[in-house]
Amino acid sequence: VLSIEPLDPWDDGVLAELYAVYRESDRHGVRFPTTWTLEEMRVDLRTTSEFVRTVTVGARADGRLVGIAGIELALRDNLDQADVDVHVRPAWRRRGIGRRLAEHCAVLLRAEGRTTWNGWVPGREVDAPDGTTTPGEHLCRALGLRLGLLDVQRRLALPVPDAHLDRLAADAAAHHPGYELLQWVDRCPDEHVDAYCALKAAMNSQAPAGDLTLEDEHWDEARLRESEAVLGDSGRTRYACVARAPDGSLGGHNELVVAAHDPGAVYQWDTLVLPAHRGHRLGMALKVANLRTVQAAHPERTHVVTFNAASNAQMVAVNEAIGFRPVSYMGEWQGPVPA
Ligand SMILES: CC(C)(COP(=O)(O)OP(=O)(O)OC[C@H]1O[C@@H](n2cnc3c(N)ncnc32)[C@H](O)[C@@H]1OP(=O)(O)O)[C@@H](O)C(=O)NCCC(=O)NCCS
Repeated sequence: VLSIEPLDPWDDGVLAELYAVYRESDRHGVRFPTTWTLEEMRVDLRTTSEFVRTVTVGARADGRLVGIAGIELALRDNLDQADVDVHVRPAWRRRGIGRRLAEHCAVLLRAEGRTTWNGWVPGREVDAPDGTTTPGEHLCRALGLRLGLLDVQRRLALPVPDAHLDRLAADAAAHHPGYELLQWVDRCPDEHVDAYCALKAAMNSQAPAGDLTLEDEHWDEARLRESEAVLGDSGRTRYACVARAPDGSLGGHNELVVAAHDPGAVYQWDTLVLPAHRGHRLGMALKVANLRTVQAAHPERTHVVTFNAASNAQMVAVNEAIGFRPVSYMGEWQGPVPA
């Protein structure tokens, strides 16, 4: 018998069980996974926040956990939406468990007044034959979601030779005299908090969103400080690089994250240059400066992982020039929560 039930992440045994299902599912048949570590998931699921709420439900077959669904609800923006992530252990797939979990989530979301759901779904590797479809894509279609934005995962082997970074930085610098690159690790200096929050908030509307409907996220000092605490507790170190314009405003930023519990990878998070500051090759300058810092601080790291919209020609061109190469697709799916 299959039962669907809420899972309590504060219970160490339940957390270990749900993490094992997630990890096995996330890596099954996937050559370039970006699986969270247990330490990261523990902090994420146990954080009580006024900005985001998580709910986890599980599917048990005769008591054994065989599938999970994680729901994330933004509490200060995008109040009609929710992100949902469903995982079923490979040996238990194609028996309707993924659908049961998703339908259970739909009932919970309706009760919360959320009418749109989103899924981040791994697609095929770039060198797999065209038309190769992953189980997650099948499930999304079966549930009436549509592909709103196609992302490409790229990877960059480290270290990048200094001479290459020097050349890229010098080429870019000629286009932004008067701009200054500033960097910090982990805690945003107080003087930059407002401008940095504005950069974080602008991401949804200023990065290509394809056919997705998304509101800007709400970012203020409380949220920024909370996110820094969560990163710290998770063992993640954020390297931030920002471009200060001649008038003192911040025109763009770049974030690289090094996770203590996840050896090997460095993760590229946001890169953004605000419209008023575009055309000065700040995207390249920010990336190169931050990369230089991180690879010097972490000689043990072997590669950087980044995701970009396939349609984001400028960002992709910067990444390709640095040496990033595509490995796989990732889809951002969206659809109405069924009644
Ligand atoms: C996606 C996933 C959750 C599906 O779980 P599942 O228990 O196998 O799904 P179900 O058996 O309930 O399938 C529901 C429907 O999805 C579709 N589907 C799911 N897997 C499929 C596959 N491999 N091939 C074709 N269709 C598939 C079918 O339409 C299916 O309905 P049907 O069996 O009546 O034809 C599971 O494959 C998984 O954990 N994948 C990795 C994580 C992931 O991609 N999650 C989605 C992110 S939100």
